[in-house]
Amino acid sequence: MKVTVVGAGAVGASCAEYIAIKNFASEVVLLDIKEGFAEGKAMDLMQTASLNGFDTKITGVTNDYSKTAESDICVITSGIPRKPGMTREELIGINAGIVKEVSSNLIKHSPETIIIVVSNPMDTMTYLVHKSTDLPKNRIIGMGGALDSARFKYRLAEALGAPISDVDGMVIGGHSDTGMVPLTRLATRNSVPVTEFLSEDRLGQVMEDTKVGGATLTKLLGTSAWYAPGAAVSGLVQAIACDQKKMFPCSVLLEGEYGLNDICIGAPVILGRNGIEKIVEIELSDAEKTHMKESAEGVRKTNDLL
Ligand code: 2OP
Repeated sequence: MKVTVVGAGAVGASCAEYIAIKNFASEVVLLDIKEGFAEGKAMDLMQTASLNGFDTKITGVTNDYSKTAESDICVITSGIPRKPGMTREELIGINAGIVKEVSSNLIKHSPETIIIVVSNPMDTMTYLVHKSTDLPKNRIIGMGGALDSARFKYRLAEALGAPISDVDGMVIGGHSDTGMVPLTRLATRNSVPVTEFLSEDRLGQVMEDTKVGGATLTKLLGTSAWYAPGAAVSGLVQAIACDQKKMFPCSVLLEGEYGLNDICIGAPVILGRNGIEKIVEIELSDAEKTHMKESAEGVRKTNDLL
């Protein structure tokens, strides 16, 4: 199993690290345009191998896509990250050109690959890959919901005073401060609905904190977060590589599901060796349907900027 990660910045390097540490891939190629940068990160990471007990080979390359040939999965993290006060949508001008070029270079050398898009504005960048390549829809996946759901579980555990392993929950909709739809109605603590433990007000706060999860970290760090994004990507890569048939919310091209068409937006999917093997349609409440519709309108506005 060969995985390529494009962009050796904080998010890309975290993806490579988490994938390697889980030891299911034979090789991770880390590619960056900055001379020597990916080589340096790869060497540093390889020097953790004996300490962390993994055998995955990490190779760093400067813009040489021939080294990515025959990758089973490619992750695109390249582009500029958010600065404090910026929305993900403001990155579109620069990132659209980068994502288009990167995806075309990747597919040239790995026509059978599955692409995971991380660059922001992620739903629109995922849509762009659909529009600008011939890859079938099951092989284009946007990473957002897995990260937003991890942030949701963190906030739920905090509100409940519970360990995170007690909590389950999912965020669908767009990967933006206003577009996320945290499904509080379906979230549970050890299979008991969280609505049994938390007031409507407290749950409202959990929802708000989840939606601005990325912005909160950007303000604290001065740039976009990387540990949780890297871990979320590695979860998707592992589900595909190991054919786990695991359910994650991912940005996926909808063709009628959830009443939406010709849009990439977060919905639950089953991930296995073929990428997106199924889009799972769950029954939403009227309020959730309204949020999903508003979220889609927001994503469409950003898509229009393309
Ligand atoms: C975030 O929310 C990278 O968009 C990403 O942190």
